This record gives sequence, structure tokens and C-alpha cells, in this order.
Amino acid sequence: MTTVSDRERTDVHPEQPIDVAAERARTPGSTTRHHFNSAGAALQTRETVDSVVQHLRLEEAEGGYEAAKRNSVLTERAYTSAAALLGAEPREIALFDSATTAMTRIIDSLRIRPGQKIVVSRSTYVSQALQLLTLRDEQHIGLVIIDNDDDGVIDLVALERELDGSTDAVVCIAHIPTSSGAIEPVHRVGEIAAAHGALYLLDATQSVGQIEVDVTAIGCDVLVTTGRKFLRGPRGTGIAYVSSRLLERLVPASPDVRASSWVSEGEWVVERSARMLESWEHSVAARVGLGVALGQALERGMGPTAVYLGTLAGELRARLSDLPGVEVTDPPKARSAIVTFRLAGIADTVVCEYLKERNIHTISIPAAHAQWDLGARGLGSVVRASVHVYNDRGDIDALVLAVAELAATAVESAGVER
Ligand SMILES: Cc1ncc(COP(=O)(O)O)c(C=O)c1O
Repeated sequence: MTTVSDRERTDVHPEQPIDVAAERARTPGSTTRHHFNSAGAALQTRETVDSVVQHLRLEEAEGGYEAAKRNSVLTERAYTSAAALLGAEPREIALFDSATTAMTRIIDSLRIRPGQKIVVSRSTYVSQALQLLTLRDEQHIGLVIIDNDDDGVIDLVALERELDGSTDAVVCIAHIPTSSGAIEPVHRVGEIAAAHGALYLLDATQSVGQIEVDVTAIGCDVLVTTGRKFLRGPRGTGIAYVSSRLLERLVPASPDVRASSWVSEGEWVVERSARMLESWEHSVAARVGLGVALGQALERGMGPTAVYLGTLAGELRARLSDLPGVEVTDPPKARSAIVTFRLAGIADTVVCEYLKERNIHTISIPAAHAQWDLGARGLGSVVRASVHVYNDRGDIDALVLAVAELAATAVESAGVER
């Protein structure tokens, strides 16, 4: 079997380019502002929003249960489309209200024992880190943070060393962090985890919808992601993949009527699908919208999407780093759709406010969201600009121009003071 490196996998050449004009035409928000926050919550298409509204109207007319029954084909589509996008079986997919709920439920259900080791990357997201730190403090699990290598991604040699000799470790990696444009070498991590019999949990919240993510190729046991970011789905949606292998032995920590039957006073039977982790109650409208967004991601194709976003973000990164007074804070080999930077002498919140006044929407990410990354690098916060298929060169020009103007004022006043 040939092993394809992570870099090769994402350097896909598109068979069809992204039709940016068509994406903008179906995305009303893209024509009224320069939106650079797909890593926060992307702009949805008109069709996605319409599908949510139509379902709410159906609930208004018929009642929530009746509307859910009538639109069950649409909600089932969210499972089949998520499975198709991730290279999974529909029974391996569960839906949640967020990536965090998905990961928390799964980790709780793993019943990690005192003394068991959890090995994590520096890219770990705050909410997951806090759950693991709580487990460390209360359940005495061994929590090990693997340092980054010179490229700013997990040091695979250190990972291998840490897993050597253990048979029941759990590896937790965020594919793309909230705090930089890095892409973790998730396929190599999968090979290392498999070689050491470790369970592999992948937080793909910032990668699904942005680049190709195939659970079989990566070899993860669990993947979680969210609907509202690069998938362009409604807020309040999350997706998990749990491998058939893990489903064989997973027992939900909080069985729910959604997929468990209470058959006698003290007995219940749990459905052997990832839905065993779900809650009965959820927003059906949001799931209908998620199904539409997933369908659009599949139609567009992750190969062309990855190439377009990588190219646009690469151009933004290069142009920002050419500006005096601007520091791009991404690791050297960053190539995701997320670009992070800061301006010498100007607080990130002030930068974001200045850009917002010019109708350019970015966000400031504080170290409190990524202590193991930003905190460890001594960065109190960074400005994050993330692109999607509805962004074009006009958006990039507007952002670069505004940042150049603001940076120039800071450089000038620093010169006068000196
Ligand atoms: C890398 C990463 N993981 C997880 C999350 C949490 O996602 P959610 O808010 O859907 O729980 C985020 C949110 O920004 C994230 O960036």
C-alpha cells in the first residue's frame, strides 16, 4: 500500500474550479460586506436559510412532531450526506447541537480510567481542553501535551515516543486549530495511533467543509465537527462520526430515548448506531438546513474548495506579511483558509473595530481560546481572517488596504515618538 503524505492529500488539483460568482449570487451576505469569519460562523446560502424557514412555517401550521414526520426525508439526508462527505456509513453518523456537545458525549461514554493516558496536540480547542483538564484533576487520567515541531504542527517523533509501550492511550488532535492556519498531519497521526493501539479522536471542526476529510484514509475512531463554520450550515448543529469498530463496544454514558428502548423496569436496549449518543430533542429546522448545506458542499466538491480557499488565504497571508508593522502569526507552513496576524502597537480588538467600520468583518481570538497554542507562544490574542468560496479578490484587496492604512498610522506615530 502506498502511503500518501498529508501534504500530497491536500494539494488536490480541481477538476472543476469554484464558480465564485455563482457562490456570491446564492449568498446574500457576501455582496453587502467583506465577510472573513467562516471559521466563526460562515455565511449561509439562500437555499439553506429558506429550507430552515420553510420547516419553521410547517411547524407553525402543523405542529412540531407532525412537521418533523413530514420532513423526515430531509433530516435523514443530513445523515447520508454527512456520511458521504466523510467517507463513512450513515449508521456511523450522529447529530448534535455543536461539536463540543458531540465530543463531550463521546469522551464521557469512553469512560476513561484513572491512569489511562490522553495525548493531545497544542491545537486543542478550549472547550475540549477544559474537559480533559477536568478529567485529569478529578479522574487522575494522564494528560500529555505533545509539543509542535519547527513547522508548528504536532511533533510526530514526540508523539510516537509518548505512545511507545502503552496499549490503551487516547490521542486527541484538532485537525485545524481555532488560532492559526496550521493543518495537523492527521493521516500520519492515524498511522502512529494504529501502530500503538491507541484510540484516535479527531476534532475536525475547522476542517470539514474546508478541505477533504476522509475518516477511513485518516484512520480515526471518532470525528466531530460543527455545522456553522466551513460547512455553511445553520447555527446549533454538530456532527459526529463514530467508527463501526468503536460502536461495537461503546455504551452511552447517558442513554436517551432517542435511540434506547426501556423494555422493562430495570432494562433497556441501546440501538447499535452512533445515534445512541444523540438527544431526542433537537431543532429539526436546523437539521433540515444542515442537510441542504451538506448537499451543497458535496456538489461543490472538497478538492476544488480546498484549492480555492488555500490559494486565496495564501495570497492574503503573503500580502499581509509584506506590510510594514504587520506580523502574520501563522506557523511557517500554514496553508489553511485561516489567516492570523497582528499589528505592532495596536490591540487586536481595535484592529477588528477599525475594519468593521469599513465593513470588513474579522474576529479577535484571545489566548483564552487556545492556551496550549497562543498562550504557549506568548500571544495574548490574534486577529483572525478566514475565507470561503464567496470571498473574492475584491474582498482581499479591501482587507489588505485597510490593514495597510491602519498599520501605517501606527508605524508613523511610533516614528514621531522616537
Ligand atoms: C478547533 C475547534 N474545535 C471545536 C470548536 C467548538 O465548536 P462548537 O462551538 O460547535 O462546539 C471550535 C469552535 O470555534 C474550534 O475552532
